[in-house]
Amino acid sequence: MPATKGSADVPLSPIYQGPLPYVTAVERVPVTVYEQPGDASRAVAREIADLVTSRAASGKPTVLGLATGSTPVGVYDELIRLHREEGVSFRSVVTFNLDEYWPMRPDALQSYHRFMREHLFDHVDVPVDSIHIPDGTLARADVPASCVRYEEKIREAGGIDLQLLGIGRTGHIGFNEPGSSVDSRTRLITLDSVTRSDAASDFFGEWNVPRQAITMGVGSILSARRVVLLAFGEHKAPIVRRAVEEPPTSTVSASALQQHADARFVLDRAAAARLTRFESPWVLGPLDAVGLEWSAALARKAVIWLALTLGKPILKLTDEDYNEHGLQDLLSKRGRAYDLNIEVFRAMQDTITGWPGGKRGEPRRVRGVAPADAAGRAAEFPKRVVVFSPHPDDDVISMGGTFIRLCEQGHEVHVAYQTSGNIAVWDESADRHIDFVEEFCRTFDVGTIVSPGERSPGEIADRIRSFLRTKGAGTVDIPELQAVKGLIRRTEARAAARYSGVQADHIHFLDLPFYETGRVRKKPIGPDDVALTVALLEAVRPHQVYAAGDLSDPHGTHRVCLEAVLAALRALADRDWARACEVWLYRGAWQEWEPHEIDMAVPLAPDEVLRKRMAIFKHESQKDRALFPGPTDPREFWQRAEDRNRDTARLYDRLGLPEYEAIEGFVLLPDATRAGVGR
Ligand code: F6R
Repeated sequence: MPATKGSADVPLSPIYQGPLPYVTAVERVPVTVYEQPGDASRAVAREIADLVTSRAASGKPTVLGLATGSTPVGVYDELIRLHREEGVSFRSVVTFNLDEYWPMRPDALQSYHRFMREHLFDHVDVPVDSIHIPDGTLARADVPASCVRYEEKIREAGGIDLQLLGIGRTGHIGFNEPGSSVDSRTRLITLDSVTRSDAASDFFGEWNVPRQAITMGVGSILSARRVVLLAFGEHKAPIVRRAVEEPPTSTVSASALQQHADARFVLDRAAAARLTRFESPWVLGPLDAVGLEWSAALARKAVIWLALTLGKPILKLTDEDYNEHGLQDLLSKRGRAYDLNIEVFRAMQDTITGWPGGKRGEPRRVRGVAPADAAGRAAEFPKRVVVFSPHPDDDVISMGGTFIRLCEQGHEVHVAYQTSGNIAVWDESADRHIDFVEEFCRTFDVGTIVSPGERSPGEIADRIRSFLRTKGAGTVDIPELQAVKGLIRRTEARAAARYSGVQADHIHFLDLPFYETGRVRKKPIGPDDVALTVALLEAVRPHQVYAAGDLSDPHGTHRVCLEAVLAALRALADRDWARACEVWLYRGAWQEWEPHEIDMAVPLAPDEVLRKRMAIFKHESQKDRALFPGPTDPREFWQRAEDRNRDTARLYDRLGLPEYEAIEGFVLLPDATRAGVGR
């Protein structure tokens, strides 16, 4: 079922509304999937508004159970819009929030009291007395009684009509970590290490994350009359699959929703990607029965899946292999295994190129839908290339090998660092650099005499140091310290780009304003962000753009940075060069594209892997951070990058393609995304 384009406030129709026949066997709870998180958020906000409005019309209050975290923000934004623009009133609403860290002051940056005020309550007309959020300021001895009281208040309000949930990577709902029983009630709980590491950036370091939280129990959640669980992004896909398709277990609290009469998972495509319905729909029965067709891309996915499942190279797959693994349908449409094997093998082979910018004098081979090459630019050599890097190190971490190759092969390579990355520098690192500046000034006897009105380096250093002495955990840095941290990242980025072969005047720092809040929470993308991106693109007029394509990270910096690039390209859509410009997406430090998605695979030789590693090493301040990444993945960035690139190479090898040391994968930006469908 193709998605249809919707206006800003009309949600697109879901791409999947389950369970459908065949799928019922594996999906144990109803699931609705939208193409983009925004579509899902608007649909859920509309559902909440309709419930509130219809109950209010018959004089009844609505009791809402609310969640915090990055996921429900889009729903709250839409509720605010519905209130402001469509006059939806929330005066009849009573709210109960799921949880709060303990201990936690309500005005702290990370407090869920503050979160709810900033994201919803300050902007709608829910009466203050109707708002309930667990109290993080209580003395430990008072917590149990207050939890009992919280449950009583929910009952007195008539019980929860609609409970909104997110899901943690541990499968928690609320803060019900693995092991929470289905009849647990509001209580103090110790947070799982995965949850604390996920919260680390909100607290400027994992060691600042409270160890405990007060949370409604799984039983409290199951008592709600309707439950809607939202999950967005590829990082949620594995736990969503466990919660939806595996038997209920207290190890995955969200799986308890399987036993609720009116619970629903609302997902974007990325969070749904691991559901059998999307990952290997052919095992459920003939594709047309689940509303799908055998496109070339799906056939590729199926053949790769079959080869990996059986541990056989593509060219050795037999008719029997297809028939016995749910691919009879595909096989009968294409005739024989031989033809299918060759088709997919060639398609994969065509992705491999050691010349990402193309070769002089040779037509360019691009798999997938090449953008309209209006000016015949695909064959031009050398190419002008812009590598967009959301943070100052994504360029070398995610595509360092390709970056170095493009420079070495004679292309005019520009790199644009989109944000300053200043919040990701530890205080100790800033302190050491200030020490350096002071020593420098003393050694060369500079900076002591300053003009009236100017500050000496010593004064600035003193101010930063006195701030650092009293700085509480998770406090926003003063502007001087933010600037020093930004400079540290800027100089590291310049060192890495120079090392990779980029000319000094081709290194650009955009410092996009959306990022400059001093907090993890960013501003939405604005016209200034787009204008800065447009100006750079116009100055370079690139043949190729590389950008971070973590498309499904709903509030992350990478996503906003990609939006800025896409908005800029749209603004330049009347220029021939912009229309013909190839836009290649790389994945961030954490994940690679799926093999069937990769349109360009750039192999790296062993010495190129080492050079990439050296480029990543220039980001010293980030090495410091990687010492505390949380117990979920103790690897440093260079290790993640190498492991990921080696895994891709191993995968190609297992499919029977050439065996390389490492491979960097890229996806050509789909035309629909480029044109803005489904934003
Ligand atoms: C929030 C809560 C948590 C979050 C979950 C997902 O009140 O209790 O269960 O819903 O940790 O967090 P995000 O949405 O930030 O991925």
